[in-house]
Formats: sequence, C-alpha cells, structure tokens
Amino acid sequence: MHHIEVERRMAEKDIAAIANLLHIAADADGHPPLGEHKWLDLVHGGRSGFSGFVARDDHRRVVGYAHLSRGSANWGLEVVVHPSYREPDDPIGTDLVRAALAEVAAEGGGHVHLWVAKPTPAHDAVAHANGLTQGRELLQMRRKLPVEGMASTIGVRAFRPGEDEADWLEVNNRAFGGHPEQGAWDLETIKLRESEPWFDPQGFLVHQIGGRIAGSCWTKVHADEPPIGEIYVISVDPDFQGRGLGKELVLAGLEHLAGKDIETGMLYVDAANVGAVALYEKLGFEVDHVDRAYVGDVPAAPS
Ligand SMILES: CC(C)(COP(=O)(O)OP(=O)(O)OC[C@H]1O[C@@H](n2cnc3c(N)ncnc32)[C@H](O)[C@@H]1OP(=O)(O)O)[C@@H](O)C(=O)NCCC(=O)NCCS
Repeated sequence: MHHIEVERRMAEKDIAAIANLLHIAADADGHPPLGEHKWLDLVHGGRSGFSGFVARDDHRRVVGYAHLSRGSANWGLEVVVHPSYREPDDPIGTDLVRAALAEVAAEGGGHVHLWVAKPTPAHDAVAHANGLTQGRELLQMRRKLPVEGMASTIGVRAFRPGEDEADWLEVNNRAFGGHPEQGAWDLETIKLRESEPWFDPQGFLVHQIGGRIAGSCWTKVHADEPPIGEIYVISVDPDFQGRGLGKELVLAGLEHLAGKDIETGMLYVDAANVGAVALYEKLGFEVDHVDRAYVGDVPAAPS
C-alpha cells in the first residue's frame, strides 16, 4: 500500500528523503531521474508554481516522487519510482501522475509535458493510463574528446558574474525565441545556476562583436566517473547566426573541456531543432539516447 502527499514547500527532511530516493533510482537507471531545472527547484525548497507529490509506504518510506512545475506556457512533470516498486501491477507511477494531473486541473488546467529519460513500454503504459500521448523528444548526443582535425579560430573570454547577466539573458532569450524551457530565463534562473558547485565562469565562454555579446558556449562538467563535459547552453544572437559562429563556439567549448582532460563531450538537443542537430552531427556528435515528453491538455476542474 502507498499513499500520496502533496507538498508546496519542502522541509529539509523531506528534501533529504527524496534526494535519497533519487540517488537509488540514479544508481539503478544510470542517469539522474530528475531534470536539472526541477532538481534546483526541489533543493531550493520549491518556487511558486511548484508542487511535489511524495508517495510513501506504510512505514512512511519514500517510494515515489512526482515533481510538477508551472512554466510560462506549459506544466512540466517528472516522476521517479523506487526500483523495487516497478512491476507492471505496481500502481505508484500511475497514481503519482494522476495526482499531479488532478492538481493541474484544480489550478485551471493547461498543457502538460511529462518528461522521461530513456523511455520504456512501462513509461508508455503510465502515460497512456493518464491520457497522455507521445510528444517532443530530446536527444542526448555525445562525442569523444579531444576533437581532431578541427580547431576554433575565434576569440572568447570568460563570463563575468555580476556584470554579464543582463546582456547574456537578452541574447540567449532572443536566440531561443519561443523555446519552452530556454527562451524565458530571468535573472533568478541564471543566478541559481551561478550558485551551484559546478558553476565555473572559465568554462562559460563569451564571444563579442563590436562590444556586444554575439554568442556564448556555457560548459558544465559532470563529476561522474569518468567525468563528462556538457555543452550546457549554446546560443548565437539571431543577428549573427548562419556565419559559422555556432560551430566555432561549440569547438571552443569542447577545447576547454578537453583541456581539463575530459574525454567525453555531451549535449542535449530538441530532436526538432534540425539546425542545431545538423551542426552537432557535423562536429562528430552521435545520439546516445532519447528523452521523451508525453503530452496532454488537462481541462480545468469544475469549481
Ligand atoms: C544552433 C546555433 C547555436 C547555431 O549557430 P549558427 O552560428 O547559426 O550556426 P553556424 O553558422 O555555425 O552553422 C554551423 C553548421 O551547422 C549548419 N546549420 C546551421 N543551421 C542549420 C540549419 N537550419 N539546417 C541545416 N544545417 C544548419 C551549417 O550549415 C553549418 O555547417 P557548415 O559549417 O558545414 O556550413 C544558433 O542557430 C542558435 O543560437 N540557435 C538558437 C539556440 C539553439 O537552438 N541552441 C542549440 C540548443 S541545443
């Protein structure tokens, strides 16, 4: 038996119990079960528009967790179930999604994205049982480092925390336009990341043209064993796109990572972002795995 509790502000001890579940799931699955945006929301106790759904067994052990957050246009949902409770007849995943969708309905309804890393038929079943269908896919692409036979030829400098945020946000949000997760960053979004232990301005490379930021390549080192170097955010000002800058910036980012003796470069890209996927393929990246969004429109609950 299990029951589900809804939390809108997380207490330290709940965060610790959920973090423990996430570690167990990460060990079993070989990848972090919660995307970074949601993980940051969680460890900071939740922001407005956040709800956590905690499934506990009869001994109050955390056996599942769903994280629901309201974005500017969509609701984002991620669910993790303890590896011991994943038999086809275990209802925890389905119940967590149902509870989260009921909350969406109670909050006025809307478009929902349930994100799943490395989806399986079990994820299909949970999504379909809740009326969600297959939607966007995110590719995780990788390549070996260092890159041989290609070198970046542009000048870059390190990002300057406390000085560059406003200019960078403007370029990034313009470059990403209507992108649901990347196109509406604000000062809080970037400051949260600057406060993370992995943040290193030396790996956040900025290229200027005529005194303004024309593009940037922000890298992130994942302290896995062996470490993996991510092209974390790459954007070129629309005024300067299509002139080879994106390629130069990715190369500069990969050179920075290789200089730290990192042997694998990695990035996430929306499968529908044909321009970016073409760029990465030209730079030797190959698809490692796919993350999938299950989507649906939830009507508002009658008041
Ligand atoms: C993706 C992005 C960084 C590319 O930067 P860019 O400066 O426009 O790209 P480049 O001019 O360096 O193009 C590099 C290569 O990709 C190819 N490419 C770029 N856009 C393409 C498109 N729409 N279709 C096919 N190929 C494309 C180019 O042909 C070029 O190959 P070549 O060197 O053999 O000619 C930039 O368009 C951008 O900021 N987009 C918005 C943000 C974004 O989507 N970021 C990536 C998220 S993962």
